[in-house]
Amino acid sequence: MVEIKRKNVLLPGPVDVPDDVLLAMSKPIINHRGAEFHELMKSIENKAKAIFKTKYNVLVLSSSGTGGAESAVMNVIRPGDKAIVPVFGEFSWRLANQIDQARGRAIRVNAQLGTAPAVDQIEGAIKEHRDAKAIFLVYNDTSPGTTYRHAKELGELAERYGLYYVIDAISVFGGDELPMDDWKADVVVAGSQKCLMTPPGLALVGVSDRIVELAKKDPPYSTYFSYANYVDFLSKFETPFTPAIPLFYALDVALERIAKIGIDENIRRHRVGASAYYKAFEAMGLEPFVVEQYRSNVVISIKYPQGVDDMKFRQTMDEEYNTVITGGFGELKGKIFRIGNMGVIEKSRILPTIAAVGFSLRKLGVNANVEEAINIASAELKQLEVK
Ligand SMILES: Cc1ncc(COP(=O)(O)O)c(C=O)c1O
Repeated sequence: MVEIKRKNVLLPGPVDVPDDVLLAMSKPIINHRGAEFHELMKSIENKAKAIFKTKYNVLVLSSSGTGGAESAVMNVIRPGDKAIVPVFGEFSWRLANQIDQARGRAIRVNAQLGTAPAVDQIEGAIKEHRDAKAIFLVYNDTSPGTTYRHAKELGELAERYGLYYVIDAISVFGGDELPMDDWKADVVVAGSQKCLMTPPGLALVGVSDRIVELAKKDPPYSTYFSYANYVDFLSKFETPFTPAIPLFYALDVALERIAKIGIDENIRRHRVGASAYYKAFEAMGLEPFVVEQYRSNVVISIKYPQGVDDMKFRQTMDEEYNTVITGGFGELKGKIFRIGNMGVIEKSRILPTIAAVGFSLRKLGVNANVEEAINIASAELKQLEVK
């Protein structure tokens, strides 16, 4: 048996799961076609709808986030269909590829890493491809740590040009604003292991009625991901296939936590946490990777000072401070480090992480002013005590 040591896991997902969420998974296995499961599913559904701010159905797929994104591709895209995709990091690049793999045609609107395409550029692509069927957006591209701050405007564009609007919100859902109906999204995909502070393995997918209609009229080439099938079973508070029951228990507890805090307040807490990180790191002389306008509240990505070795830095964080964060990938490998500011947002998590970053950098020869950084972050985090 593998022995696992408890660490402070602040990856950009998965992140630490609170004990009550973790312990919920030790409840007995129940009949997924029985009354207890129906109660569980009802409880999840009610809370999920409030967090999605939607009147539509929220499906819970026993799959990781990629499955959730694939479900959207399978239900919307048919061979030859065009979809407009803003590409500004690894995950939006991946989403565009998923569309191509489904024999659709992704129209990529690229931007340099650390920035994002302007709304005008997206509209330009739509005008150039009047036959496009959908916009597929990654709201928070986790690899550079970039949040697309015009997601609401893209919903307006989608409505004006008669397009479906799909949002991969896997890494940000619950941690930043995304009122599904108000922003006119047809599909919103969330991942359990990020701001929803649940273990990995579930994708929550908000689906508008018109997307379900589309999926009914023109069924996807997929057994596992048919939205019409999920919606049918959801009317009986079931899932079409055997659900990952322990994860559903965990999700129910995690959503209850968010419901108690309130989704708007939960989002505010993520914003305050992010601000504390950015201000503290700037006080240490570090620079965020992403331009201010698109900086993420849930993935804090910071450029390494010259000469700092990514592996040595993260090894020091892990071995000396028991803290697990990550580096960059693809083009950004060795250039940035990233911290997940997701789920439980508390001073007792954030201050030690900032201190661990500062002291690890000092060990590697960087003259980081840790004391000032901690003072600045402490002052900022007072906003967590207000409510
Ligand atoms: C924006 C985004 N999309 C998709 C995924 C893929 O999710 P998963 O690894 O849960 O399949 C991730 C994972 O980090 C992500 O951040």
